[in-house]
Amino acid sequence: MDMDWTNLGFNYLPTKAFVQADYADGAWSAPTLNTEPYLSMHISANCFHYGQACFEGLKAFRTKEGKAVIFRPDMGAKRMILSGERICMQPPSEELFIEACKMAVKENIDYLPPYGTGASLYMRPFLIGTQPIIGVNPSDTYTFIVFVTPVGPYYKEGFSPVNALVVEGFDRAAAQGTGRTKVAGNYAASLKPGIQAKKKGFPIVLYTDPVEHKYIDEFGTSNFIGITDDEYQTPDSPSILQSITNNSLQTLSKEYGLTPVKMPIPLDEVDRFKEVGACGTAAVITPIYSITKGDKVWTFGDEHKAGKTLTKLYEHLQGIQYGERDDSYNWLIEV
Ligand SMILES: Cc1ncc(COP(=O)(O)O)c(C=O)c1O
Repeated sequence: MDMDWTNLGFNYLPTKAFVQADYADGAWSAPTLNTEPYLSMHISANCFHYGQACFEGLKAFRTKEGKAVIFRPDMGAKRMILSGERICMQPPSEELFIEACKMAVKENIDYLPPYGTGASLYMRPFLIGTQPIIGVNPSDTYTFIVFVTPVGPYYKEGFSPVNALVVEGFDRAAAQGTGRTKVAGNYAASLKPGIQAKKKGFPIVLYTDPVEHKYIDEFGTSNFIGITDDEYQTPDSPSILQSITNNSLQTLSKEYGLTPVKMPIPLDEVDRFKEVGACGTAAVITPIYSITKGDKVWTFGDEHKAGKTLTKLYEHLQGIQYGERDDSYNWLIEV
Protein backbone atom coordinates (compact mmCIF):
# COMPACT_ATOMS: atom_id res chain seq x y z
CA MET A 1 0.00 0.00 0.00
CA ASP A 2 1.43 3.33 -1.08
CA MET A 3 0.69 5.42 2.01
CA ASP A 4 2.68 8.04 3.85
CA TRP A 5 2.15 6.22 7.16
CA THR A 6 4.20 8.62 9.26
CA ASN A 7 2.21 11.69 8.17
CA LEU A 8 -1.34 10.51 8.78
CA GLY A 9 -3.67 12.85 10.65
CA PHE A 10 -7.09 12.14 12.18
CA ASN A 11 -9.21 12.40 9.03
CA TYR A 12 -11.31 10.01 6.99
CA LEU A 13 -9.24 8.32 4.30
CA PRO A 14 -10.97 5.92 1.90
CA THR A 15 -10.34 2.21 2.49
CA LYS A 16 -11.38 -0.90 0.60
CA ALA A 17 -14.70 -1.84 2.15
CA PHE A 18 -17.02 -1.47 5.13
CA VAL A 19 -19.12 -4.07 6.92
CA GLN A 20 -22.90 -3.78 7.13
CA ALA A 21 -25.66 -5.77 8.84
CA ASP A 22 -29.35 -4.89 8.78
CA TYR A 23 -32.07 -5.58 11.31
CA ALA A 24 -35.61 -6.22 10.09
CA ASP A 25 -38.50 -8.51 11.11
CA GLY A 26 -36.85 -9.19 14.45
CA ALA A 27 -33.50 -10.49 13.17
CA TRP A 28 -30.06 -9.30 12.06
CA SER A 29 -28.78 -10.20 8.61
CA ALA A 30 -25.32 -11.73 8.31
CA PRO A 31 -22.66 -9.00 7.96
CA THR A 32 -21.69 -8.24 4.37
CA LEU A 33 -18.95 -6.16 2.71
CA ASN A 34 -19.69 -3.04 0.69
CA THR A 35 -17.19 -0.99 -1.24
CA GLU A 36 -19.01 2.27 -2.06
CA PRO A 37 -19.01 4.46 1.08
CA TYR A 38 -22.59 5.71 0.62
CA LEU A 39 -25.98 4.60 1.90
CA SER A 40 -29.26 5.00 0.10
CA MET A 41 -31.82 5.90 2.75
CA HIS A 42 -35.36 7.08 3.11
CA ILE A 43 -35.66 10.81 3.79
CA SER A 44 -37.98 10.04 6.68
CA ALA A 45 -35.64 7.58 8.43
CA ASN A 46 -35.76 7.94 12.21
CA CYS A 47 -32.02 8.74 12.56
CA PHE A 48 -32.41 11.95 10.56
CA HIS A 49 -35.23 13.35 12.68
CA TYR A 50 -35.46 11.76 16.10
CA GLY A 51 -31.83 10.98 16.65
CA GLN A 52 -31.73 7.20 16.85
CA ALA A 53 -28.00 7.01 16.22
CA CYS A 54 -25.04 5.87 18.30
CA PHE A 55 -21.46 4.90 17.60
CA GLU A 56 -18.23 3.49 18.99
CA GLY A 57 -14.59 4.38 18.43
CA LEU A 58 -11.83 1.79 18.82
CA LYS A 59 -8.49 0.95 17.26
CA ALA A 60 -6.64 -1.91 15.60
CA PHE A 61 -2.85 -2.12 15.78
CA ARG A 62 0.00 -3.95 14.04
CA THR A 63 2.11 -5.39 16.85
CA LYS A 64 5.87 -5.73 17.07
CA GLU A 65 5.49 -9.42 16.14
CA GLY A 66 3.40 -8.51 13.09
CA LYS A 67 0.00 -9.58 14.45
CA ALA A 68 -3.16 -7.58 13.65
CA VAL A 69 -5.02 -6.91 16.92
CA ILE A 70 -8.09 -4.98 18.07
CA PHE A 71 -8.06 -3.35 21.53
CA ARG A 72 -11.00 -4.47 23.72
CA PRO A 73 -13.78 -4.74 21.10
CA ASP A 74 -15.86 -6.66 23.67
CA MET A 75 -16.05 -3.46 25.74
CA GLY A 76 -17.11 -1.45 22.68
CA ALA A 77 -19.82 -4.03 21.99
CA LYS A 78 -21.13 -3.81 25.56
CA ARG A 79 -21.20 -0.02 25.42
CA MET A 80 -23.07 -0.05 22.10
CA ILE A 81 -25.66 -2.33 23.71
CA LEU A 82 -26.00 0.21 26.56
CA SER A 83 -26.33 3.10 24.07
CA GLY A 84 -28.82 1.19 21.94
CA GLU A 85 -30.98 0.27 24.89
CA ARG A 86 -31.01 3.84 26.21
CA ILE A 87 -32.54 5.23 23.03
CA CYS A 88 -34.70 2.18 22.22
CA MET A 89 -32.59 0.85 19.36
CA GLN A 90 -31.96 -2.82 18.61
CA PRO A 91 -28.20 -3.17 19.24
CA PRO A 92 -26.07 -5.86 17.58
CA SER A 93 -25.10 -8.73 19.88
CA GLU A 94 -21.57 -8.76 21.27
CA GLU A 95 -20.77 -11.62 18.85
CA LEU A 96 -22.03 -9.72 15.79
CA PHE A 97 -20.17 -6.57 16.86
CA ILE A 98 -16.85 -8.42 17.25
CA GLU A 99 -17.35 -10.46 14.06
CA ALA A 100 -18.02 -7.26 12.07
CA CYS A 101 -14.96 -5.54 13.59
CA LYS A 102 -12.71 -8.48 12.69
CA MET A 103 -14.15 -8.62 9.19
CA ALA A 104 -13.56 -4.89 8.68
CA VAL A 105 -9.90 -5.19 9.73
CA LYS A 106 -9.30 -8.34 7.65
CA GLU A 107 -10.78 -6.83 4.52
CA ASN A 108 -8.79 -3.61 4.97
CA ILE A 109 -5.60 -5.23 6.21
CA ASP A 110 -3.55 -3.25 3.68
CA TYR A 111 -4.62 -0.10 5.51
CA LEU A 112 -3.43 -1.31 8.92
CA PRO A 113 -0.38 0.90 9.53
CA PRO A 114 2.93 -0.95 9.96
CA TYR A 115 4.49 -1.36 13.41
CA GLY A 116 6.82 1.45 14.31
CA THR A 117 4.97 4.24 12.52
CA GLY A 118 2.97 5.19 15.63
CA ALA A 119 -0.15 5.01 13.46
CA SER A 120 -3.18 2.73 13.89
CA LEU A 121 -6.43 1.75 12.20
CA TYR A 122 -9.32 3.71 13.72
CA MET A 123 -12.57 1.73 13.73
CA ARG A 124 -15.97 3.35 13.72
CA PRO A 125 -18.91 1.01 14.38
CA PHE A 126 -22.27 2.81 14.28
CA LEU A 127 -25.96 2.00 14.56
CA ILE A 128 -28.88 3.94 13.08
CA GLY A 129 -32.67 3.67 13.06
CA THR A 130 -33.71 3.46 9.40
CA GLN A 131 -37.48 3.06 9.39
CA PRO A 132 -39.40 5.85 7.63
CA ILE A 133 -41.31 7.49 10.45
CA ILE A 134 -43.25 10.70 11.07
CA GLY A 135 -44.52 10.33 14.65
CA VAL A 136 -41.97 10.16 17.47
CA ASN A 137 -41.46 6.42 17.81
CA PRO A 138 -38.57 3.98 17.76
CA SER A 139 -37.67 2.47 14.42
CA ASP A 140 -38.44 -1.18 13.61
CA THR A 141 -35.40 -1.45 11.32
CA TYR A 142 -31.72 -0.73 11.97
CA THR A 143 -28.43 -0.65 10.12
CA PHE A 144 -25.15 -1.49 11.85
CA ILE A 145 -21.94 -0.52 10.07
CA VAL A 146 -18.25 -0.80 10.84
CA PHE A 147 -15.87 1.28 8.76
CA VAL A 148 -12.17 1.81 9.33
CA THR A 149 -9.65 4.48 8.43
CA PRO A 150 -5.91 4.75 9.15
CA VAL A 151 -4.95 7.50 11.58
CA GLY A 152 -1.64 8.94 12.69
CA PRO A 153 -0.21 9.16 16.19
CA TYR A 154 -2.03 11.78 18.24
CA TYR A 155 1.16 13.39 19.45
CA LYS A 156 3.32 14.25 16.49
CA GLU A 157 5.26 16.81 18.50
CA GLY A 158 5.52 14.64 21.59
CA PHE A 159 3.37 13.97 24.60
CA SER A 160 2.92 17.52 25.89
CA PRO A 161 0.43 19.20 28.25
CA VAL A 162 -2.52 21.34 27.12
CA ASN A 163 -4.79 23.97 28.73
CA ALA A 164 -8.45 23.20 29.45
CA LEU A 165 -11.40 25.58 29.83
CA VAL A 166 -14.39 24.83 32.09
CA VAL A 167 -17.62 25.13 30.07
CA GLU A 168 -20.07 27.67 31.49
CA GLY A 169 -23.56 28.23 30.15
CA PHE A 170 -23.95 24.82 28.47
CA ASP A 171 -24.24 21.16 29.47
CA ARG A 172 -23.38 18.32 27.12
CA ALA A 173 -25.70 15.88 28.84
CA ALA A 174 -28.64 16.09 31.24
CA ALA A 175 -28.45 14.67 34.77
CA GLN A 176 -30.58 11.66 33.91
CA GLY A 177 -30.08 11.96 30.17
CA THR A 178 -27.85 10.14 27.72
CA GLY A 179 -24.37 11.18 28.93
CA ARG A 180 -23.39 7.64 29.95
CA THR A 181 -23.90 6.45 26.42
CA LYS A 182 -22.30 7.21 23.07
CA VAL A 183 -25.38 8.53 21.29
CA ALA A 184 -24.77 10.93 18.41
CA GLY A 185 -26.83 13.77 19.91
CA ASN A 186 -24.41 14.18 22.84
CA TYR A 187 -21.77 15.27 20.36
CA ALA A 188 -24.04 17.75 18.59
CA ALA A 189 -24.69 19.34 21.99
CA SER A 190 -20.95 19.67 22.61
CA LEU A 191 -20.02 21.38 19.33
CA LYS A 192 -20.86 24.96 20.30
CA PRO A 193 -18.98 25.06 23.64
CA GLY A 194 -16.05 23.28 21.96
CA ILE A 195 -15.83 25.82 19.16
CA GLN A 196 -16.16 28.77 21.55
CA ALA A 197 -13.32 27.42 23.70
CA LYS A 198 -11.05 26.90 20.67
CA LYS A 199 -11.63 30.52 19.67
CA LYS A 200 -10.39 31.51 23.13
CA GLY A 201 -7.30 29.36 22.63
CA PHE A 202 -8.29 26.26 24.62
CA PRO A 203 -7.99 22.98 22.70
CA ILE A 204 -10.03 21.04 25.28
CA VAL A 205 -13.08 21.74 27.45
CA LEU A 206 -14.07 20.41 30.86
CA TYR A 207 -17.73 19.88 31.80
CA THR A 208 -19.03 20.02 35.35
CA ASP A 209 -22.07 18.09 36.54
CA PRO A 210 -25.34 19.29 35.01
CA VAL A 211 -27.18 19.66 38.36
CA GLU A 212 -24.98 21.87 40.55
CA HIS A 213 -22.08 22.61 38.20
CA LYS A 214 -19.90 21.87 41.20
CA TYR A 215 -18.37 18.46 40.46
CA ILE A 216 -16.09 17.53 37.59
CA ASP A 217 -17.82 15.44 34.94
CA GLU A 218 -15.49 14.91 31.97
CA PHE A 219 -13.64 16.60 29.15
CA GLY A 220 -15.34 17.11 25.77
CA THR A 221 -14.35 13.72 24.36
CA SER A 222 -12.37 12.15 27.18
CA ASN A 223 -12.64 11.22 30.85
CA PHE A 224 -10.90 13.08 33.72
CA ILE A 225 -8.05 11.50 35.70
CA GLY A 226 -6.40 13.12 38.75
CA ILE A 227 -3.28 11.62 40.34
CA THR A 228 -2.43 12.09 44.04
CA ASP A 229 0.48 10.50 45.94
CA ASP A 230 -1.32 7.21 46.21
CA GLU A 231 -4.57 7.39 44.28
CA TYR A 232 -5.84 7.44 40.72
CA GLN A 233 -9.07 9.43 41.06
CA THR A 234 -11.74 9.71 38.43
CA PRO A 235 -15.26 11.15 38.68
CA ASP A 236 -18.20 8.99 39.62
CA SER A 237 -21.11 10.60 37.77
CA PRO A 238 -24.24 9.36 36.01
CA SER A 239 -23.73 11.76 33.10
CA ILE A 240 -20.28 10.75 31.81
CA LEU A 241 -19.24 8.21 29.21
CA GLN A 242 -17.86 4.98 30.59
CA SER A 243 -14.43 5.28 28.96
CA ILE A 244 -12.72 2.03 28.00
CA THR A 245 -9.33 3.75 28.20
CA ASN A 246 -10.12 4.95 31.73
CA ASN A 247 -11.18 1.45 32.74
CA SER A 248 -7.89 0.05 31.36
CA LEU A 249 -5.74 2.74 33.02
CA GLN A 250 -7.44 2.13 36.38
CA THR A 251 -6.36 -1.50 36.14
CA LEU A 252 -2.79 -0.56 35.17
CA SER A 253 -2.56 2.10 37.92
CA LYS A 254 -2.49 -0.67 40.56
CA GLU A 255 0.80 -1.90 39.08
CA TYR A 256 2.27 1.50 40.00
CA GLY A 257 1.14 1.38 43.62
CA LEU A 258 -1.94 3.57 43.06
CA THR A 259 -5.46 2.82 44.23
CA PRO A 260 -8.07 3.60 41.57
CA VAL A 261 -10.97 5.50 43.15
CA LYS A 262 -14.23 6.58 41.48
CA MET A 263 -15.71 9.46 43.45
CA PRO A 264 -17.44 12.82 43.05
CA ILE A 265 -14.60 15.36 42.58
CA PRO A 266 -15.50 19.00 43.36
CA LEU A 267 -13.87 21.34 40.84
CA ASP A 268 -12.89 23.61 43.77
CA GLU A 269 -10.70 20.83 45.17
CA VAL A 270 -8.84 20.09 41.96
CA ASP A 271 -5.58 21.46 43.36
CA ARG A 272 -5.17 18.26 45.36
CA PHE A 273 -3.85 16.61 42.18
CA LYS A 274 -0.19 16.40 41.27
CA GLU A 275 -1.08 15.39 37.71
CA VAL A 276 -4.24 15.72 35.67
CA GLY A 277 -5.00 13.95 32.42
CA ALA A 278 -7.74 13.45 29.86
CA CYS A 279 -8.09 9.88 28.61
CA GLY A 280 -9.72 8.32 25.57
CA THR A 281 -9.15 6.07 22.56
CA ALA A 282 -7.83 8.80 20.26
CA ALA A 283 -4.88 9.97 22.38
CA VAL A 284 -4.81 7.43 25.27
CA ILE A 285 -3.82 10.27 27.67
CA THR A 286 -3.61 14.02 27.11
CA PRO A 287 -1.74 15.62 30.01
CA ILE A 288 -3.49 18.76 31.30
CA TYR A 289 -1.30 21.66 32.40
CA SER A 290 -4.06 24.06 33.43
CA ILE A 291 -7.80 24.32 34.05
CA THR A 292 -9.39 27.77 33.67
CA LYS A 293 -12.81 28.82 34.94
CA GLY A 294 -13.45 32.53 34.47
CA ASP A 295 -10.61 34.32 36.30
CA LYS A 296 -9.55 31.24 38.23
CA VAL A 297 -6.66 29.13 36.86
CA TRP A 298 -5.39 25.89 38.41
CA THR A 299 -2.08 24.48 37.16
CA PHE A 300 -0.51 21.04 37.46
CA GLY A 301 3.19 20.26 37.21
CA ASP A 302 5.44 21.40 34.39
CA GLU A 303 3.94 23.40 31.55
CA HIS A 304 6.09 21.64 28.97
CA LYS A 305 6.40 18.13 30.31
CA ALA A 306 3.87 15.47 31.26
CA GLY A 307 4.00 14.16 34.83
CA LYS A 308 5.83 10.92 35.64
CA THR A 309 2.83 8.80 36.55
CA LEU A 310 0.71 9.69 33.53
CA THR A 311 3.72 9.14 31.27
CA LYS A 312 4.24 5.64 32.72
CA LEU A 313 0.55 4.77 32.32
CA TYR A 314 0.52 6.10 28.76
CA GLU A 315 3.61 4.17 27.78
CA HIS A 316 2.32 1.00 29.43
CA LEU A 317 -1.03 1.05 27.62
CA GLN A 318 0.55 1.89 24.26
CA GLY A 319 3.13 -0.81 24.89
CA ILE A 320 0.34 -3.38 25.30
CA GLN A 321 -1.43 -2.14 22.16
CA TYR A 322 1.70 -2.47 20.02
CA GLY A 323 2.64 -5.84 21.52
CA GLU A 324 5.76 -4.49 23.20
CA ARG A 325 4.53 -5.42 26.67
CA ASP A 326 2.69 -8.40 28.05
CA ASP A 327 -1.03 -8.33 27.39
CA SER A 328 -1.59 -9.69 30.91
CA TYR A 329 -5.26 -8.72 31.01
CA ASN A 330 -6.11 -10.24 27.59
CA TRP A 331 -7.22 -6.93 26.10
CA LEU A 332 -6.09 -7.69 22.55
CA ILE A 333 -8.21 -9.73 20.17
CA GLU A 334 -6.24 -11.12 17.24
CA VAL A 335 -7.75 -10.81 13.79
C1 LIG B 1 -17.53 12.04 25.79
C2 LIG B 1 -16.43 11.05 25.80
N1 LIG B 1 -15.88 10.73 26.98
C3 LIG B 1 -14.88 9.82 27.06
C4 LIG B 1 -14.38 9.20 25.92
C5 LIG B 1 -13.30 8.20 26.05
O1 LIG B 1 -13.82 6.90 25.90
P1 LIG B 1 -12.92 5.72 25.37
O2 LIG B 1 -11.78 5.60 26.29
O3 LIG B 1 -13.80 4.53 25.42
O4 LIG B 1 -12.50 6.09 24.00
C6 LIG B 1 -14.93 9.52 24.67
C7 LIG B 1 -14.50 8.89 23.42
O5 LIG B 1 -13.45 8.62 23.07
C8 LIG B 1 -15.97 10.47 24.60
O6 LIG B 1 -16.50 10.81 23.43
